[in-house]
Amino acid sequence: MKIELSENKIFFNNGKFVQEIHPFWLRERVDGDEFLDKGTQQRLFDPSTMNGEIIIKKAEIRNGFLEVDFNDGVSSKLDIDKLEYEFSNKDTVIKSIIKKKWDSSLKNIKNFTYKEDFYESKEMHDLLVSFYEYGFVIIKNVPTENNYIVKFANSIGSVRRTNFGEHFNVKSKSNPNDLAYTTLHLSPHTDNPYRNPVPCIQLLHCIESEVSGGLSTLVDGYTVTENLKKEDPEAYKILSEVKVRFKFTDKSVVLEDWSELIHLDENKEFKQVRFSPRLDYVPMLEKNKLDLYYKSRKKLSDLYNSKNNRIEFKLTSKDLMMMDNYRVLHGRTKFDPSEGKRFLQGCYIDFDSTEGKLRHLKRKFKI
Ligand SMILES: [Fe+2]
Repeated sequence: MKIELSENKIFFNNGKFVQEIHPFWLRERVDGDEFLDKGTQQRLFDPSTMNGEIIIKKAEIRNGFLEVDFNDGVSSKLDIDKLEYEFSNKDTVIKSIIKKKWDSSLKNIKNFTYKEDFYESKEMHDLLVSFYEYGFVIIKNVPTENNYIVKFANSIGSVRRTNFGEHFNVKSKSNPNDLAYTTLHLSPHTDNPYRNPVPCIQLLHCIESEVSGGLSTLVDGYTVTENLKKEDPEAYKILSEVKVRFKFTDKSVVLEDWSELIHLDENKEFKQVRFSPRLDYVPMLEKNKLDLYYKSRKKLSDLYNSKNNRIEFKLTSKDLMMMDNYRVLHGRTKFDPSEGKRFLQGCYIDFDSTEGKLRHLKRKFKI
């Protein structure tokens, strides 16, 4: 990518095509002391109130800087590397991390270990990269006292509070308002599909586990849906087109949101799965369409529940698991409470927390 000048016009040339850079686009980026607050990197002027008739009176390239005089009397030296970075118009931090597909054959995934100054460490950077690759990560030896999970969440970003509280205690109890608070087997699901927006990341911290059952199970929704796309395009298509209603009710709230089971982004690529078959209500479509929908959902459910797609492991005291709730389904095997205690704590954070932390650590360690 290269910046070129011709008669007070500025062009960028990416080797494939040459395009003129709009003078106003450059004017918005002037970064002298009177135009940009150096501490916050926020503008000290409001370009939305300026008229767009900005013309370049003079332009030169010198020592890696583009020196421009505009017709409104403003002159600026713009760092060409920074401009070129903007031309790429891509998120080079998060989207450049390639998702790794996995199934039951996943072995030797790296666990991380909590230690002092963990949140500002290179280890935290590596942890977050691993999280975006696999959709989950396990951290050993995380302190358990005083609901430490909330401190953990707030040290990466900000805890996402819900009507279950800032954090929730996963123990069996009488009159539960969610099956999580029983001793039953929980089949793979994503959490809170009825919220708008759905919480992005679940943290689950094992405080005590004295029972032989209650294993954690994880399934990669990304791998399953990508495989479904190849093997059964018709099922993939209807599951990524029909929006269903997810609903949660208890005595103080009624939560409801609509989404496809496989939600694609604007490029028709994987974005999010929601799966919680105790809470979903498909609209009354015509019979043939529903025939196909039910057949396809059964297929998806079979894949999510297949041993071939599931990893199963035991969380022990002080293990904290971070799961991408838009990608990875989680569940657990049943357990017998007469064997002893099983106590986990959970909370949510959103993607801005992990993305913000990862960009910060990349900047800090110049990675
Ligand atoms: Fe859950």
